Amino acid sequence: MPRSKFDERLKAHQQELSQLYSELYSGDRESYDALIALMRAAYKQRPASMKRLDEKRVGEPDWYKSQSLVGMQLYVQSFGGNLKGVRDRIDYLQSCGVNYLHLMPLLESPEGRSDGGYAVSDFRKVQPELGTMEDLKDLAADCHKKGMSICLDFVMNHTSEDHEWARRARAGEKAFQDRYFFYDDWEIPKEFEKTVPQVFPTTAPGNFTWCEEAGKVVMTTFYPYQWDLNYANPAVFNAMTDDMLYLCNQGIDVIRLDATPYIWKEQGTNCRNLPQVHTLVRMMRLVCETVCPGTLLLGEVVMEPSKVVPYFGSVTRPECHLLYNVTTMASIWHTVATRDTRLLRHQLGQVFALPKEYGFLNYLRCHDDIGWGLDYQFLAQFGMKEVPHKKYLNDYLTGKWPDSPARGELYNDDPRLGDARLCGTTASLCGIETARTQQDNGRLKWALRLDVSLHALVLTMSGLPIIYSGDEIAQENDYSYHDDPLKQADSRYLHRGRFPWENVPLIDDPDTVQSVMFRSLRQLEALRAEHRVFNCLADTWIVNTGDDAVLGIGRYYEGEKLIALFNFGDSDRYISVDELGDYTNLTSGVYVGKSAAALPSHDFVWLLCDFDKKN
Ligand code: GLC
Repeated sequence: MPRSKFDERLKAHQQELSQLYSELYSGDRESYDALIALMRAAYKQRPASMKRLDEKRVGEPDWYKSQSLVGMQLYVQSFGGNLKGVRDRIDYLQSCGVNYLHLMPLLESPEGRSDGGYAVSDFRKVQPELGTMEDLKDLAADCHKKGMSICLDFVMNHTSEDHEWARRARAGEKAFQDRYFFYDDWEIPKEFEKTVPQVFPTTAPGNFTWCEEAGKVVMTTFYPYQWDLNYANPAVFNAMTDDMLYLCNQGIDVIRLDATPYIWKEQGTNCRNLPQVHTLVRMMRLVCETVCPGTLLLGEVVMEPSKVVPYFGSVTRPECHLLYNVTTMASIWHTVATRDTRLLRHQLGQVFALPKEYGFLNYLRCHDDIGWGLDYQFLAQFGMKEVPHKKYLNDYLTGKWPDSPARGELYNDDPRLGDARLCGTTASLCGIETARTQQDNGRLKWALRLDVSLHALVLTMSGLPIIYSGDEIAQENDYSYHDDPLKQADSRYLHRGRFPWENVPLIDDPDTVQSVMFRSLRQLEALRAEHRVFNCLADTWIVNTGDDAVLGIGRYYEGEKLIALFNFGDSDRYISVDELGDYTNLTSGVYVGKSAAALPSHDFVWLLCDFDKKN
C-alpha cells in the first residue's frame, strides 16, 4: 500500500517530535503514542479541499509573505451580527482589499465571564448567538473560494471555569484538577506571587483564585474565571492539540496562539517565556507540519523585542510563522505623542537588521490596549524616564495634555507602578473625533492626514499589514460600554464598538472622512501590491532626513527604490535627502526628480525611483 502524505511527513518529523516529547514528559511513551494516534485521526478527517490547499502551500511556503496580502481583524458580532452575517458581507471585505481575515474569538464562552471570548468553555462549539460550527465551516469555505484565509484564536493558556475539565476539577476529580494548577492552601501560590507580575493589576489583581467548591486555590493569571492549564501534564498537551487540529479541519488557516509566553509555569520564575514554552510551540509546529502543513502559527507575544524574536525559532527548527511587531506599534504611538522620531528610527533599525525571512504582522491597533513596552534605555539618553514618560504619553493620548486632540482612555491604571496602558481607536487617537465634535474642518483634515500617514507607514514595512476593522472608515471610540455592567470595568471595549454600517455609504461622498480614509487605504494597498519594491525580500533602511520630526525609510528591490517620508511634526517641512535617484511621487504620479519633497504637517510621501526604466 502506498504511504500516505501523513506517513511521509511523520517520517520526516518524528525523530525530533519524539525527542522533544520524551524530554518534556519524562519518556512517557504511552502519551506520545496517543498523540501520534490523534494526529493520524485528524489527518484522516481533514477535508480533501484542505489537503489540496496544504499541498499548494507546501509548494509555495512563503505565500503568507506576499506583498498583496492585506489582513483585517474583526469581531463577528460587531461586524455581521453572526457568522452568517459575516458571510453575507464578504463583498465588503473584498472591496477593502482584504484577503486575510482574523475572526476574533467565537467559541463558546460564558456571558459576563468571557474576557471578550478569551475564556473558552468548549473548543468545538461556536458561541450560540454567533452560529454553529457548520456556519464557521461555510464561512471559511466561502472565504477560501475568494482567496481569503482565516485566522482564529486558539486560547490555549487557560480554559473558562465552565469548561468540562474545570467543572470536573471543581467537583473533586483529581485527574482534572491535575490539568490545572490546584493547591490545598495559599502557601505555594504566595511563593509564586513573589516572582510573577500581574497582567490585569486593576481589573483582576493576583494570579490565583480561591475555588470554594473544590476547597482549593487555582491559578488564574488573567481573570479569575480563566483557569491556567498545566502543560506539564501530557494529557493537556494532547487534548489541546486535538482541539487545535479539529479547528484546522474546519477550515482555519492561521492559528493565533493566544498568550503564547505564558503557557509554562514554574515557581521561582516570572512564568513568562520559559524554555519549555519554546518546546511546546515547536512541537505544535511539528504537529501541524505533519497533519496540516498549510496551517500557519501566529504567536501572540506581546513582549520586548529580545523576547519576541526567539519565537521564530531557528532556520532548521522554526516555531511561529508570524509574530506581532508590537514594539514598533507602541513606538509609533510614542512618536505621535512626542513628534520625535528618534525612538522609532532606532526601533525600525533593529527590525530592519533582522533576517528578511521573519514574518511580522504590522498594525496600528488591535482589540487590546497599547502597552508602553518601549526601549527606555534608549530613551534615557534623551532624559526620558519610564514612569514620567508613560504618564506623558497617557496624558497626551487621553487628551489631558493641553491642546492634544487625541481621545483615548486609560487601561489597568496601576498607580503603584505608574503603569497605565491605553485604549482608543486609531481615528480617535489621531484627533478625528475631537475635530469632528468641535466642527473644526482644518483640524479634521490634519487629523485625517495623520491617520492616513500612519497606515501608509504600516504598509511601507515588510510583513503582513493588519487593519483593525473600522479603521478603514476612521471609526471613532464607542463610549456605550460605560453603561454596560458586563463591560464597564474593561476599557478595551472603547475600541470594540459595533461596526458603523451607516457610515459605509459615505465612502461614495468624496468630501467625507470615511471616503478619504477608505480610498487612500485602497490606493496604498494597490500600489503596494503592484510595485516589486514592496517585496518582503527588499533591502530596508532608515533614511537620514536631518529632521527629528520626519521619519525616512528606504526600500530597494531589483532596480526599484522607494523613499518614504513621514512628517510627524506640527509644521510643514521641505525635506531633501541624500539618496541617489530620479523620483516620482507614487500616490500622485507627479515626477519630482531628486529626492526632495514638500511635506505638510502629518503628511507622508512615497517616492519611487525605477532604475531599470531609466536605462
Ligand atoms: C490575549 C488577548 C487578550 C486576552 C488575554 C487573555 O492577550 O489578546 O484580549 O485578554 O489573551 O486570554
